[in-house]
Amino acid sequence: MGEYHVRGGNALSGEIRVSGSKNAILPILAATILTSGTSVIRNCPKISDTYVSIEILEALGCKVKMEDDTITVDSSTANDRCVPEKLVREMRSSIIFLGGVLGRFNRVKISYPGGCELGVRPIDLHLKAIREMNVTLNEDHGFIIGETTGIKGASVNLDFPSVGATENIMLTAVLADGVTKISNAAKEPEIIDLQDFLNKMGANISGAGTDIIIIEGVKKLGNAEHSVMFDRIVAGTYLVAAAITKGGVTLTDVNTRHLTSITSKLTEAGCEFEMREDTIRLSPPKKIRAISRLITLPHPGFPTDAQAQFAALLSIANGASVIEETLFESRNKHIGELSRMGANIRLAADGRTSVIRGVPALTGAVVNARDLRGGAALILAGLAASGETTVKNSHFIERGYENIDAALSSLGADIKYIA
Ligand code: UD1
Repeated sequence: MGEYHVRGGNALSGEIRVSGSKNAILPILAATILTSGTSVIRNCPKISDTYVSIEILEALGCKVKMEDDTITVDSSTANDRCVPEKLVREMRSSIIFLGGVLGRFNRVKISYPGGCELGVRPIDLHLKAIREMNVTLNEDHGFIIGETTGIKGASVNLDFPSVGATENIMLTAVLADGVTKISNAAKEPEIIDLQDFLNKMGANISGAGTDIIIIEGVKKLGNAEHSVMFDRIVAGTYLVAAAITKGGVTLTDVNTRHLTSITSKLTEAGCEFEMREDTIRLSPPKKIRAISRLITLPHPGFPTDAQAQFAALLSIANGASVIEETLFESRNKHIGELSRMGANIRLAADGRTSVIRGVPALTGAVVNARDLRGGAALILAGLAASGETTVKNSHFIERGYENIDAALSSLGADIKYIA
């Protein structure tokens, strides 16, 4: 298992291109199974979650080729309806293949994803909605077995705007008989990207990005080409990297409209921005200011995937900050590790609210990444800490960051990956 060695103290500077989005590529790859044609997907992030998705497509019988950042999926040969259990265990979000495989074959067998690093990860909203579409879903010895005589459009209302449930319903509904209406849909930009890709394949979907999505079922999908949107969370991570080192960094190939919740909190911390439509430059404050309340919420609220990185930043802010995690129950495993580096953080008994009292400086330590974003937060803390920080369990970070060491090195950080 690899680890990152970070020597803190270098202010980052320079320009960096932000890679394609993890949370957009996964449902898009799952969508490719719906056609018996060929999909060409560009700007794919080279991260382990992408590689797991490719393995799933291959196990389902698709022919997949990845050349640089372009993935070509020939789904004409897809013949299997069973998503391998080993791969679902490796990547919980592979539950997104439920809707795609069902839509293509009217049958699916997929292992129940169970818990993950972020705690229990229920899929009840996915299952309830899909059952309303004339699909029988049985849970059998840890597997979900889905069958239908024909998927039928339905009006489904989500109790909570779940990203995965919204996407799974869209994938199930694309080839359904009739119209599906999703109310209280998740509004994340990655859902708009999925809608755009599906429409290029020949689907008829509107409303993504709002809380009502309408999917008019079509008979057949064809070939499509698409370029995946930028990764909002990777962009946010590099902005925090600049801020925490008091550096100045420009990010290119972004859409600044999708970064507002992150930039508004960085502005509260004292950062300044110069923004064009597709580039953003951060100038840091002399002293990072505390943020009195940061609460994670579904989009357009502050993303849960960026809160750990902010915890690292606020641990050296001037004053006390409060972070409240409302989405996932076990999303604060980085706190104990940040404390090893000298941060002063108190986590409430519910495990969700943390009070961070800024300290003048962090000190390097050997720390363990325990999930993807918490792992990235430890690298950020290492960039600001005195001495050397070793972040173990690099595989968590590789799930969502393409060559984070090379990217940060290009901005002047002293970071090495050791296998
Ligand atoms: C997606 C993102 C993840 C992000 C999360 C929230 C992908 C691949 N992953 O995950 O990076 O952190 O959105 O923005 O896109 N819930 C239920 N029942 C369900 C489904 C969800 O109770 O059937 C709950 C979850 O436990 C959680 C909340 O809803 O508390 C949000 O989950 P959801 O939006 O579904 O997140 P994911 O799609 O798993």
